[in-house]
This record gives sequence, structure tokens and C-alpha cells, in this order.
Amino acid sequence: MFDKSKILPIASDHGGYELKEFLKKNLIKEGYKIKDLGTGSTESVDYPDYIHPLAKSVNEGIYEMGIIICGSGNGSQMTANKYINIRAALCWNEEQAYLCRRHNDANIISLPGRFIDFNTAVKMVNIFLTTEFEGGRHIKRVEKISRI
Ligand code: RB5
Repeated sequence: MFDKSKILPIASDHGGYELKEFLKKNLIKEGYKIKDLGTGSTESVDYPDYIHPLAKSVNEGIYEMGIIICGSGNGSQMTANKYINIRAALCWNEEQAYLCRRHNDANIISLPGRFIDFNTAVKMVNIFLTTEFEGGRHIKRVEKISRI
């Protein structure tokens, strides 16, 4: 369960900008404190320029969780998962958002802004932020992810 007194960072490229703005409004209404790391418009940008700063901050423990968005969700997820402490999950429905927390202890959700309904995205983010990691048999599996 994400602690609402903490700062929740969100970042996107132009492909995720509109969903970012929609989510931000909803999250603020629900009492979350949001740090918007850009982008600031639908003008074309390169997603790593916006995703790296968010992922690096979560990796270093500055933020506990984060939300990243691009057109497909793929580029954002790939960028974030370059960091050793990041488990970024590309999600496109509510069940995926639930499972990435329960089974994978994901600390970043990556959303495909051009492929999901915005109201579904709100529900997914809510699930992501309020679902606890199941632990148990999943602990050693999650630990093995970074063992290379
Ligand atoms: C931008 O056109 C698009 O490539 C980007 O938003 C994302 O889908 C990359 O993975």
C-alpha cells in the first residue's frame, strides 16, 4: 500500500502525455502528492530522457514507487528495467496491475497511453498503489531476477 504522505513520481513522453495529465488530476483528487517529471506537452520527445530520471530516483530509494507512460508502454518499461532495484511492469488491464504487485513486487507501473482506456488506467493505478506483495513463494523468485 503506497503511503499517501509520500511523493509519487509520474513521467511520460508525448505518447503518454494525455494519460499522464488525466491520471495526475485523478490522483491529486484522491489525495496523492504527485511529482510530475514531464514531459509537458504532446510535442515529440525521446522517452528515455523522461523515464531515466524517474527510474534512477526510485532505484536510489528517493521515491518508493512510480508511474511511467509512453505510447506502447514498452520503451518506458525497457528503460526503467535497466536499473538493478527496479521492477517495472507493463500493464494493460486490472488483473495485470494486481498480479504485478502480488507476485512480482513491481515498484513501477508502465502504461501504454495509446492502447488503454483512460478510466481503466485510473483503476489499474489504484490497484497498483494499494495492493500488497504476496511474499511467500514469490520472494525467492523476485530475488532471483537481479541475480545475473
Ligand atoms: C513514440 O512515438 C513511441 O515510440 C513511444 O511513445 C513508445 O511507444 C515507445 O516505446
